[in-house]
Amino acid sequence: MTEQELKHLLQSMSLEEKVGQMVQVTGAFLEEDAVITGPAADAGLELSDCKLAGSILGIAGAKRLRKIQERYMEEHPHHIPLLMMADVIHGYRTVFPIPLALGASFHPELVEKAMTMAAAEAASAGLHVTFSPMTDLVRDPRWGRVLESFGESPWLDARMAEAYVRGYQGPDNDLSRPGRLSACDKHFVGYGAPVAGREYNHAELSEHTLREFHLPAKIAAIRAGTACVMPAFQSLNGVPCTASEKIVRNLLRDELGFEGVTISDWSAVGELVAQGAAENTREAAKLAIEAGIDIDMMSVCYARELKGLVESGEVEERLVDEAVWRILTLKNRLGLFEDPFHGAGVQEEKRTVLCEKHRDLARSLVAESVILLKNEDAVLPLDSGSRTAFIGPYVDSTDTCGSWAIFQNREDTVTLRRGVTEGGYGANAVFCHGCDVLENTRVLGFGVEEVFGQSENRDEWIREALQAAKEADRVVMALGEHTLQSGEAASRGDITIPHQQMELLRQISAVNPNVVTVVYSGRPLDLREVSACSKAVLAVFLPGTMGGAGIADVLFGRTSPGGRVSISFPWSVAQVPVYHDDYTTGRPYDPAGAEQKFVSRYLDMPNEPLYSFGYGLTYGIFRYSPVRLSAGSMGQGQILTASVTVKNEGSMAAKETVQLYLRDEKGTTVRPRRELKGVKCLYLQPGEEGEAVFEITEDLLKIWDKHMNFLAEPGWFTIYVGGDSRTENSARFRYEG
Ligand code: GLC
Repeated sequence: MTEQELKHLLQSMSLEEKVGQMVQVTGAFLEEDAVITGPAADAGLELSDCKLAGSILGIAGAKRLRKIQERYMEEHPHHIPLLMMADVIHGYRTVFPIPLALGASFHPELVEKAMTMAAAEAASAGLHVTFSPMTDLVRDPRWGRVLESFGESPWLDARMAEAYVRGYQGPDNDLSRPGRLSACDKHFVGYGAPVAGREYNHAELSEHTLREFHLPAKIAAIRAGTACVMPAFQSLNGVPCTASEKIVRNLLRDELGFEGVTISDWSAVGELVAQGAAENTREAAKLAIEAGIDIDMMSVCYARELKGLVESGEVEERLVDEAVWRILTLKNRLGLFEDPFHGAGVQEEKRTVLCEKHRDLARSLVAESVILLKNEDAVLPLDSGSRTAFIGPYVDSTDTCGSWAIFQNREDTVTLRRGVTEGGYGANAVFCHGCDVLENTRVLGFGVEEVFGQSENRDEWIREALQAAKEADRVVMALGEHTLQSGEAASRGDITIPHQQMELLRQISAVNPNVVTVVYSGRPLDLREVSACSKAVLAVFLPGTMGGAGIADVLFGRTSPGGRVSISFPWSVAQVPVYHDDYTTGRPYDPAGAEQKFVSRYLDMPNEPLYSFGYGLTYGIFRYSPVRLSAGSMGQGQILTASVTVKNEGSMAAKETVQLYLRDEKGTTVRPRRELKGVKCLYLQPGEEGEAVFEITEDLLKIWDKHMNFLAEPGWFTIYVGGDSRTENSARFRYEG
């Protein structure tokens, strides 16, 4: 449709129709088996609210959505097509590792490829918009949604945000092309910093912290062209984002130039009442539209109140027209007025979903994202000729895709046992359950409560596991938190592996010291005791459809582990928040120095995390040359290059994630001890050398100064280039300004 035709359409719509475009309901109102991702029952919506809805969420499948679209367009007065939206967070049916693991790959190019595949599958199934990427910066592993984040580095988060948007929307952002999916960057802003790590809790961020740490990834997603943005549930500095003109209109739209569609989070407009920001749903609707919320997801506010607010003159119709214009423009960009199905079809879906190319990349990304945290006596890689006992509740679990894999079929998931046997590694392997993931507890899932008792087979499982361990050369323990213990509404104060699994690990390691522990989790856990009981520790997070295959490839050395810590693994949850780009203090603590009293430290634990940002072992042995700078100083507009030569002196091919950190030695605001500003992934054969060259531009030096100006200040900088955030391989240069 031309812009003129679209304008004519808008002008011909009734107020009721226009308000309808601003309402989004779950497919549950159209089909009973849609996925409920929020308190649908509490929303209070009825079918009458939905007849003019402009979009639906939570339903997928070409056949279903074509049928819904046909009926809705037939009944709609202007036959306007629906937008079909859903949470495709890290894959549709081919589920990739969770975003926290994808962040650990430090490989945006591969992640972009994965999101292109996710978009192809989801679009073939009839979806137009995904509520992804989640670009919230997270430093608190108690918060359950850390699994959806890319971790603690603003720079890495920004690169992953760009990769996600480009993957979904294509490098040309032409949404009309088949296989494209509109991105929705979320949550705007500060949702990843809830006080006490407790879900939905308020966030208190200074302007400086907001801009220095929490905005860069959002800005990257906007610059990459994200079609939508979802304001966050929580209040930021006392004002709910959903009702904040300062956050949505002034910052997101006016300052950052976002021109796309804003969509509230699930029932967030209605929840303004519970937040004490609105007296009732009428006031909530008024606050939200004035803040700049275009679509009200799953609350009655716009559906029941907006028309009356306009008719009474309390809300200018102009605000409704602007919102509807943005919504119609998105539909037009998708080409829905010409093809309401956007290329979706049962045949296309069959051809695309879970195809070999997608499964192959999913398998490779498992290896790229798992983090080898410990490997004493080179106990890994395993030799398939020796006897290996695989023990633990994750040996046969298909529940390894995370809580947002809402369209997956569990039977598609490759378990660890299948990965070992189908990968040709199983000749001398035995498999034991050992214990359940959870015992004697109840966990709430999406609308259902899962009750975990204590199996009457428990003692038999333990006896069998101990016997297998005694007879084996190596033991691989497959342990971890339950999928329901991470994700939305799954904050944990105790971030350890469930107690009966730890009891099993203690008993097994007492009969066989050669223990490799594979840890499944949606967050960095407190792994002190796991490490003490294991010679090797491999963090696999929630590895997705091909998890078992990719993990087996790493365990048996077909490929080297490629992941690096994307969010610090705390020594104890009591350290939280602990992160690499923290500020120094006037009394820094040097653990290597003499005993110091009046310094910034704990009396009863280290300052440093158990595993630092950027850390990860591989099957290679990498030697770095000193850092070479192209000059000792740089002026305005100039570019400096920093390079290193890296040699694999090991006997196995491996990927080395070369990281560049920057330390601004002095600023008008205090500066992080060091912060990630560049990554190069080098794949080197034994004996092979590679070069990593980084460009240092003025943009990389910019900070928010004490007047809140974003600029590069003259002074000395130290560059660190190495295999993790604690490297001392460094060089200095001066920026002359
Ligand atoms: C959830 C999440 C949001 C998601 C939305 C739709 O509550 O906060 O990230 O996209 O609802 O499922």
